[in-house]
Amino acid sequence: MSDRITEFIGYPIWWGGTVWPANHFVTDHDFIGKKVILFAASSSSPLGSSGDDLATMVGTGDWQEGQRLSSNASAGEVSSWVESLDL
Ligand SMILES: Cc1cc2nc3c(=O)[nH]c(=O)nc-3n(C[C@H](O)[C@H](O)[C@H](O)COP(=O)(O)O)c2cc1C
Repeated sequence: MSDRITEFIGYPIWWGGTVWPANHFVTDHDFIGKKVILFAASSSSPLGSSGDDLATMVGTGDWQEGQRLSSNASAGEVSSWVESLDL
């Protein structure tokens, strides 16, 4: 984990939820004092409760509402979303 104040956490949606590597990654790290921006890729499923599930597993950090991206999202779509965050 970096020293940055804002962290992006991305993961694919599997079976409608988070994936175990993402679960392990977040629970292995400390998010105290960090703003966490979530994004997930899926074929069609919405983000659902996956972002809240990760935040609950961790219990620290300021977890923002996540963004679902299509698994074939273009670089332009991703850039537009990041720019809309006004970081
Ligand atoms: C085991 C497995 C389960 C998946 N489950 C879902 C799902 O429930 N809903 C969905 O929209 N996509 C599902 N997907 C698609 C993944 O979200 C997609 O592969 C991922 O976003 C990466 O995109 P890519 O395969 O085009 O690189 C699943 C993929 C795998 C391999």
